[in-house]
Amino acid sequence: MLVDWRFARRVIGKRLGWTVPIENEDRRVLETIIFPYCLGRGARSVLFVGCDWYTRHYQRHFFEGIDFWTIEVDPRKRKYGARQHLVAPLEELERHVPEERFDLILCNGVYGWGLDGREQCEAAFRQCRSRLRPGGLLVIGWDDVPEHDPLDLDELTSLRAFDRHAVPVLDHQWRYVTDTPYRHTYDFYEKR
Ligand SMILES: C[S@@+](CC[C@H](N)C(=O)[O-])C[C@H]1O[C@@H](n2cnc3c(N)ncnc32)[C@H](O)[C@@H]1O
Repeated sequence: MLVDWRFARRVIGKRLGWTVPIENEDRRVLETIIFPYCLGRGARSVLFVGCDWYTRHYQRHFFEGIDFWTIEVDPRKRKYGARQHLVAPLEELERHVPEERFDLILCNGVYGWGLDGREQCEAAFRQCRSRLRPGGLLVIGWDDVPEHDPLDLDELTSLRAFDRHAVPVLDHQWRYVTDTPYRHTYDFYEKR
């Protein structure tokens, strides 16, 4: 019998709580380029939006020693979150944390994956801005394919209030499209 060991490891690991990273190009960019870049520019309080089995190790692996928080709307995913975890939708962030609380908000794979409506996105990104310190970054990772891109992000008033932040280690681009079939894209917004 032919066994797909990577698949088996993922299924068993999910059950046993092992560290089971996803190995693909957009994760590589996120974990080996974006995380170090953001921490290198001084982020010490970080909010990571949305969590799942493949982000369970993020606190230990990438953000140890950092004031690291997660927020996730699904209460069943609490087990994948940080020690400091909020069960709430991002569009209610203001109810849970004070102004200018974070240096960095990483919102990867949430827009187009539940965060879909115009009003919902406007509220979420407006509140991200109010909870970032001046100079702080909001990183939005999204799939540039019709089934996961319900709006035109460039038309959102909440995002226009930010400066676009060009990232030296990503070819000085503020919007970086990864080499993936689903065109996973990272946008970088800086609070003035
Ligand atoms: C595709 S997963 C992405 C997980 C993780 N952020 C990552 O880097 O892959 C999308 C997650 O976002 C959560 N989510 C969707 N809408 C949300 C919202 N409005 N606020 C907070 N979490 C949300 C979903 O419950 C789901 O766990």
